[in-house]
Amino acid sequence: MPTPLRVGLAGLGTVGQGVVRLLLEDAAGLRARAPRPLVLSRVASRTPRPHVALGGAPFSTDARALIDADDVDVIVETIASTDADAALAASKELLAGAIDAGKGFVTANKALIAREGNALLAAARNAGTHVGFEAAVAGGVPIINALTQGLAANRIEWLAGIVNGTSNHILTAMAQDGQSFDAALAEAQRLGYAEADPTFDVEGIDAAHKLAILAHLAFGAPLDLAGVYVEGIRAIDAEDIAYARELGFRVKHLGVARRGAQPRVHPCLLPEDSLIAKVDGVSNAVQVHGHAVGSTLYVGPGAGAAPTASAIVANLLEIARAAPMALPAPAQAGATAPIGALTCQHYLKIPAADEPGVFAQVAEILSRHGVSIESVIQRGAAARGEAASQWVPIVILTNAAAEAEMRAIVAAIEGLDGVTGRIGRIRVADFGGTV
Ligand SMILES: NC(=O)c1ccc[n+]([C@@H]2O[C@H](COP(=O)([O-])OP(=O)(O)OC[C@H]3O[C@@H](n4cnc5c(N)ncnc54)[C@H](OP(=O)(O)O)[C@@H]3O)[C@@H](O)[C@H]2O)c1
Repeated sequence: MPTPLRVGLAGLGTVGQGVVRLLLEDAAGLRARAPRPLVLSRVASRTPRPHVALGGAPFSTDARALIDADDVDVIVETIASTDADAALAASKELLAGAIDAGKGFVTANKALIAREGNALLAAARNAGTHVGFEAAVAGGVPIINALTQGLAANRIEWLAGIVNGTSNHILTAMAQDGQSFDAALAEAQRLGYAEADPTFDVEGIDAAHKLAILAHLAFGAPLDLAGVYVEGIRAIDAEDIAYARELGFRVKHLGVARRGAQPRVHPCLLPEDSLIAKVDGVSNAVQVHGHAVGSTLYVGPGAGAAPTASAIVANLLEIARAAPMALPAPAQAGATAPIGALTCQHYLKIPAADEPGVFAQVAEILSRHGVSIESVIQRGAAARGEAASQWVPIVILTNAAAEAEMRAIVAAIEGLDGVTGRIGRIRVADFGGTV
């Protein structure tokens, strides 16, 4: 009789309940996929939830007790709280304790891995602890498995993707229904996609956590959350999305990591016929370019109880097969080119006084900086369906320009008398035509 892999589950919310269901519903199916059966041995969470069937596993409100429990081989951590710092501290204590106690751990916690992963994973490596955090990035999409297993023969050159389903849902609603950012966010909250405090999602922080993890796995450098350049989607309005469409693009919030360059999270214009541009709603998608394989694309549900549990239980099966995910060997951080060195096309929406001459001044500034214009859209108030307006947008798609140059250009244009407010700027994604 093979020795079971005994699971201690911490946290019984959305994801924790999904894990319980997946472990209990098809135990026989899971049994056929690994030499050791997975057994839900104990469950701990903050508030008792007696309505969830636990298949006979004892329940406790003390998650730390899982560390010393004799009948737990691996701790699955799915803790979250409105007090994010307290939850992070509890998760960290639990997983550090698991390592010290010689137990494996599986977590869905991207903030924990992105912020504390260097020390935690080094300790796990030294202790020979089996770990898994597939669920921490892109929910049910097996992108970590792809990077560490399926693409292991490759030198990863770059990866780029939509890794925050909430932002993608909001941008999709703005594009498809012309909703304002606020209305799209309110809808996402009503549907349960966005938290009551949506800051982490719409400010790009959640995506930065995930990108830091992906960059670590892809390039082997230490986790460096502080090194990720971050912009969220708050500054995008429905008009930007409509203009982008007119120019042949979709607006997506992307995480981009290129070997040797600063990882970055920000809104992007993507050619409308590119594959990632077609990924809508709460779905996630990550494109990975390896030197041997070329480009590969991974798309699927980035969140939700069952998809996230799918990733967690896959990690448990890997551990039961004694083939846990491979952690990158410790490496020094290489030099990376900062975002200031990035060169790409830019979309600019310039709020200009509705009077002659402003465009000529804008064009002169661009020309002075050696940046040419690929397309322009400028409509008077009447063409925009307005009786009269203090200002009209000048929308410009520039040719490729260096980030630092573009910052100087934006500052110069905002200084013009005929420019009435802040310029909206969105970078155009360019992955060598391969996306
Ligand atoms: N939801 C998703 O789709 C998704 C996708 C990918 C990754 N994740 C990650 O998965 C984790 C869990 O997310 P979730 O959506 O399942 O959150 P959730 O629904 O809020 O559930 C969190 C659970 O943790 C419990 N908890 C809080 N503090 C605790 C503590 N100190 N000790 C023990 N239990 C504690 C909570 O208890 P109470 O019932 O008392 O609040 C609740 O049962 C997070 O790290 C999240 O980032 C979630």
